[in-house]
Amino acid sequence: MTTNHQHFDYLIIGSGAAGLLAAYQLAEHGTVCIVNKGDFSESNTYQAQGGIAGVSGISDSIDEHINDTMQAGAGLCHEDIVRQIAEAGGNIIDELRELGMPFDEDAQGLHLTQEGGHSHRRIAHSKDATGRAIGETLLKHVQHHPNIQCLRHHTAVDLITSHRLGHHHGKNRCLGVYLLNNDNHIITISAQQTILATGGAGKVYMYTSNPHAATGDGIAMAWRAGCKVMNMEFMQFHPTCLYHASAPTMLLSEALRGEGAHLINADDKRFIFNYDERGELAPRDIVARAIDHEMKKQGQDSMFLDARHLGNERISEHFPNIHQRLMALGLDMREQVIPIVPAAHYMCGGVASNLSGQTDIESLYVIGESACTGLHGANRLASNSLLECLVMAKACSKHILTQAINTENIPLPAWDESGITPESERIQIKQNWDEIRAIMSNYVGIVRSDERLRRARRRLTVVQEEIAHFYWQHPLSRDLIELRNLSLIAELIIRSAQQRHESRGLHYSTDYPNTNHTGKDTFLYPE
Ligand code: FAD
Ligand code: SIN
Repeated sequence: MTTNHQHFDYLIIGSGAAGLLAAYQLAEHGTVCIVNKGDFSESNTYQAQGGIAGVSGISDSIDEHINDTMQAGAGLCHEDIVRQIAEAGGNIIDELRELGMPFDEDAQGLHLTQEGGHSHRRIAHSKDATGRAIGETLLKHVQHHPNIQCLRHHTAVDLITSHRLGHHHGKNRCLGVYLLNNDNHIITISAQQTILATGGAGKVYMYTSNPHAATGDGIAMAWRAGCKVMNMEFMQFHPTCLYHASAPTMLLSEALRGEGAHLINADDKRFIFNYDERGELAPRDIVARAIDHEMKKQGQDSMFLDARHLGNERISEHFPNIHQRLMALGLDMREQVIPIVPAAHYMCGGVASNLSGQTDIESLYVIGESACTGLHGANRLASNSLLECLVMAKACSKHILTQAINTENIPLPAWDESGITPESERIQIKQNWDEIRAIMSNYVGIVRSDERLRRARRRLTVVQEEIAHFYWQHPLSRDLIELRNLSLIAELIIRSAQQRHESRGLHYSTDYPNTNHTGKDTFLYPE
């Protein structure tokens, strides 16, 4: 239980890799509040398997990492950002090791694995659970820090800004946030500086590798507060998620293909070379589209991943967690092929920001998967996201420490609950969730067209009207907050996709199958 209003120097919403590192960096300089919706383990970070990209071997080079990132990004990567992030990779990995991160090692030093689109082995990893190891390493330094207060099971509802409070002189400034606490009351947190580190939005699709928390809340809150968003049409589908009738979607790391696993079709044949000469290690957009095409061609619900030839030792040594989770479902990848489908995995777009996470609003930063810096362009290179999270967390903290303390005192009103009546049927929330995810999966998936996008937008408008009506009349709950955000994220994805009259990277339209020479980033601006 927390009091109704608290003040901190720094407020961080989200406790994945980006939020945790920012908290650690800022805690020596002031009071920090770090918030999450559930537990520390409920984040995309904790699910990350393959690893973190960073040049460390002598046979590799920063220029090749930059080149691979730009190739995967299909012409939209911002080269200056790519360079800064690639250059930081080696140091970030060293710093994590100093903090206690248990990276796998071999006789040569760090064991590096391989993933799609990388011309070298350059992915440092901790078995097949790298994200959990990063999360736990950072958490050790954050959880008991005297300057850091962790608020678990608290859901941010909306940002409080000066313009929202009617103070229209000067630039819009972020003053804090309303949070639904673990007791279902709305409390107010004010802060000198606020960082959104709220992760991705995979939950907007029916099948996703993302955990429940990935509902795009930070992007939605920033948009409502007045920030522009960028490249929202580029939702990355991971090629190999488990296809199973009853188990929740589970990722089968690209590192499996990096270590030699094959994709095979229903005739037991490798098919990927019919689509790209780089085979299983072509960039993700190409592999996911190839699988989708092959499934449609063969009239199958899934394709298959064949790791049998990797051998017992390699599987148990490098992929113990995936192996165990499959075994619990009665699937033994040492002896049988595993059914897979592509599933929504990573939001390449987000709140437009620079490397320090600055947004259109003063004192509001966005870092990690919620941000769009230009690193990923139209398609993210595997294992570049944990790297981006950590580089941004450091750059953001550094920038924040250069900012003068703002002494203007704007009183923050308490949340207005007048007009709220106890809800009649919560089932409506679930039904609207399911509808949105079905609309997005049916019409805004791997292959799009003008007509599909129009249909999606029409259907979504009806759902949004229902949500708007329901939202302001009923007590807030985590799932209602998420539903409102998801519906906005769906709208932003559709509107961005409608603006792109070409096929590029993760956006493929049957109406515009070619790539334009003049293709640019897509921006949407709140009214
Ligand atoms: P997250 O780690 O997702 O954290 C978001 C946090 O925000 C959570 O704590 C959540 O509770 C909180 N939050 C959200 N909304 C609210 C709200 N309204 N109020 C309060 N708190 C809120 N990338 C790689 O580089 N390498 C990999 O090997 C890799 N493997 C992956 C495997 C899987 C299965 C998945 C899903 C992703 C993978 N990725 C990988 C991507 C990478 O893990 C993520 O992009 C990255 O971890 C995002 O970190 P983040 O800190 O931005 O957000
Ligand atoms: C994976 O392990 O396949 C995920 C890597 C990533 O998304 O970067």
